[in-house]
Amino acid sequence: RIAGPSGLVIFGVTGDLSRKKLMPAVYDLANRGLLPPGFSLVGFARRDWEDEDFAQVVHDSVKEHSRTPFREEVWQQLAKGMRFIQGEFHDDEAFDKLRETIEELDKAQGTSGNFAFYLSVPPKFFPTVVQQLKKHGLADPPPGSWRRAVIEKPFGHDLSSAQELNRVVHEVFPRDEVFRIDHYLGKETVQNILALRFANQMFEPIWNRSFVDHVQITMAEDIGIGGRAGYYDGIGAARDVIQNHLLQLLALTAMEEPASFHPKALVAEKLKVLSAVRIPKDLGRHTVRGQYAHGWQGGEEVLGYLEEEGIDPKSKTDTFAAIKLEINNRRWAGVPFYLRTGKRLGRRVTEIAVVFQRAPYLPFDAAATEELGQNALVIRVQPDEGVTVRFGSKVPGTSMEVRDVTMDFAYGESFTESSPEAYERLILDVLLGDANLFPRHQEVEESWRILDPIEEYWDKHGRPAQYPAGTWGPAEADEMLARDGRTWRRP
Ligand code: BG6
Repeated sequence: RIAGPSGLVIFGVTGDLSRKKLMPAVYDLANRGLLPPGFSLVGFARRDWEDEDFAQVVHDSVKEHSRTPFREEVWQQLAKGMRFIQGEFHDDEAFDKLRETIEELDKAQGTSGNFAFYLSVPPKFFPTVVQQLKKHGLADPPPGSWRRAVIEKPFGHDLSSAQELNRVVHEVFPRDEVFRIDHYLGKETVQNILALRFANQMFEPIWNRSFVDHVQITMAEDIGIGGRAGYYDGIGAARDVIQNHLLQLLALTAMEEPASFHPKALVAEKLKVLSAVRIPKDLGRHTVRGQYAHGWQGGEEVLGYLEEEGIDPKSKTDTFAAIKLEINNRRWAGVPFYLRTGKRLGRRVTEIAVVFQRAPYLPFDAAATEELGQNALVIRVQPDEGVTVRFGSKVPGTSMEVRDVTMDFAYGESFTESSPEAYERLILDVLLGDANLFPRHQEVEESWRILDPIEEYWDKHGRPAQYPAGTWGPAEADEMLARDGRTWRRP
């Protein structure tokens, strides 16, 4: 899987995402030999830079963030195809210059007219950029070539804005040439959910309401919002990561087996399960949102959300969200899926825990099984990537006592192969035209359908509960599960 002749244009190239993820990913791909020799990288932004300034920024970002060792010859080769276009997104001259640059690169670098346009810009600019691409003939590929749009999240802020965005983008780019980024799908462990479920015989027979008690999907972060106040305030945790990453994890965990691994077959199954997702009637009892307050994390004192720079001190934005969802189908009816995410939580961890029912009968003294929990299969998405199975085992000794133990698979121990970073894989897939790891527009819309009523409810009812930074979220989240007779895992 090596990309053919092609180039990448990044809009918003001076942003954080570009410096921390996209530029290093391009270099790492080149370093692994997965890019064509004349691969070209064009940056587009307002900053008053020359090509050399741009190349220097890419160089620094690669040195700081790339995963593979720096090799001068790889860098030199890549640098030959770097260009920078200075301009505003509504600036016609800049887009004409972009067209000329692409034509020049086709000749000098052999990019063959194949270009992907990566919109790493705030969503309010999506329509302007795609319309400019159309107006300046950049969205229409020369015969035999391709033009693709790559769109970063957030894809809208509710169902109707997402639909409108889809409409605008589809007016310019054919559906198969639109790649929406959900970088969780580029993670090794996320793809492994499908391998685990559908390449094995031992899990799938018990992967249903007859054996599963409930599922917990957790994405906890220890970081606060850092310098992202402008993006985050008013968006919040649920829109930032539940609408996309967590609902994608839910879809992969709960969907039926796809007929094949063709993108269409995969999307059909994800879409089917997402459209069966229901929110509980009483949202006050089954959803919780929180906001981190001042506290301690890793021995350091940290600010509360409302004290962070750039945040409206009256902000009602959620930095923690927990919701209960149900899936109305034969496999999952009655099995709650609890989703939770938050910033400034105890530690950084993303996991999917499938928690099984208790054995129907325990032929032991009650005291023997006092410390026995429920069996669980935990997919550790990150860090310590792997899978854990928890089950009861006899405690060594003369009496019968059963206690929970775990059986572990860790990537680091089982494989010598290393996995590419999520963005590396996704950029390569864009260049290859492989859409498997990109949510389609219907999935995005279906996810907003699930989230919209919750956001509306929150909007009308009170404020997020405060939780001290470094803890596992507000007490209300524990109470929410306690009402169902369950507890959150402490990963
Ligand atoms: C992004 C969110 O999509 O994912 C961020 O916008 C979040 O708020 C990030 O921090 C987490 O990604 P990862 O790969 O570090 O889990």
